[in-house]
Amino acid sequence: MNAQPLDGKTAIVTGAAQGIGYAIARRFSAEGARVAIVDVDLDGAQRAADEIGGSAIAVGADVARADEVDRAFAEVVDRFGGVDILVNNAGIVGSDRPVRDLDEADWNRVLDINLKGTFLCSRAAVRHMIPKRAGVIVSLASISGKEGNANMAPYSVSKAGVICFTKTLAKEVLSEGIRVNCVAPALIDTPILQGMERERVDFLTSKIPLGRLGRPEEVAATILFLASEESTFTTGQCFDVSGGRATY
Ligand SMILES: NC(=O)c1ccc[n+]([C@@H]2O[C@H](COP(=O)([O-])OP(=O)(O)OC[C@H]3O[C@@H](n4cnc5c(N)ncnc54)[C@H](O)[C@@H]3O)[C@@H](O)[C@H]2O)c1
Repeated sequence: MNAQPLDGKTAIVTGAAQGIGYAIARRFSAEGARVAIVDVDLDGAQRAADEIGGSAIAVGADVARADEVDRAFAEVVDRFGGVDILVNNAGIVGSDRPVRDLDEADWNRVLDINLKGTFLCSRAAVRHMIPKRAGVIVSLASISGKEGNANMAPYSVSKAGVICFTKTLAKEVLSEGIRVNCVAPALIDTPILQGMERERVDFLTSKIPLGRLGRPEEVAATILFLASEESTFTTGQCFDVSGGRATY
């Protein structure tokens, strides 16, 4: 047994300059992994890498752009020698509007980052993982991708897409030794909540049976399990981190 669950592993965590991604990167590093923080906010990513210390590095990239994603993966492979784990965490909520008031641009921006970004990063990852016949991908879906939250159509649809993409990709790379899972958190206390109406945050919190917001560290703990050798018989699944909100 390794002394630490991620000893000798290299991980890319997208959107890890803050919030859930930061908690994942910090936990992975504490568990022995070398972590690359890939974020559109390069200054924030560098601050996060400095705080985490160890061998954490920051790489600037917009996950919605194939050229930037491929360049970021090439840089990480060059510096770390490979990618064992990818966490597709980068995401935005978009505007709080009913469908009748949604702009096409709102729709495209959320789908581009949350869903296309997950595809582009996963594609880059499996291209590096397949020759090694090993790897793990975990993506951030959301309870909204199961239920469909009113006034959050692009976000909810993007996260439903992440759940389905997870199942699809898991089947494709099963025989290559690569596992693919996702998690569906309910509301977690991060800066993303600043982009939401106060009433919406209160309403969504009231739907969580545990009666509180989740903590980024609680999501990171579930993702550590999925990224580690403790879940080798698990792929194509969506795990809840929802304080009891989703019982299915
Ligand atoms: N906080 C919640 O309540 C909650 C609930 C369910 C799911 N999630 C999901 O968890 C993930 C992280 O959420 P969070 O609350 O930590 O968000 P956050 O806003 O605190 O952090 C998001 C990070 O993603 C980065 N980012 C945004 N667009 C990017 C892009 N195009 N390319 C690269 N990086 C980009 C940001 O710079 C930031 O560092 C998201 O996918 C989110 O949808 C969050």
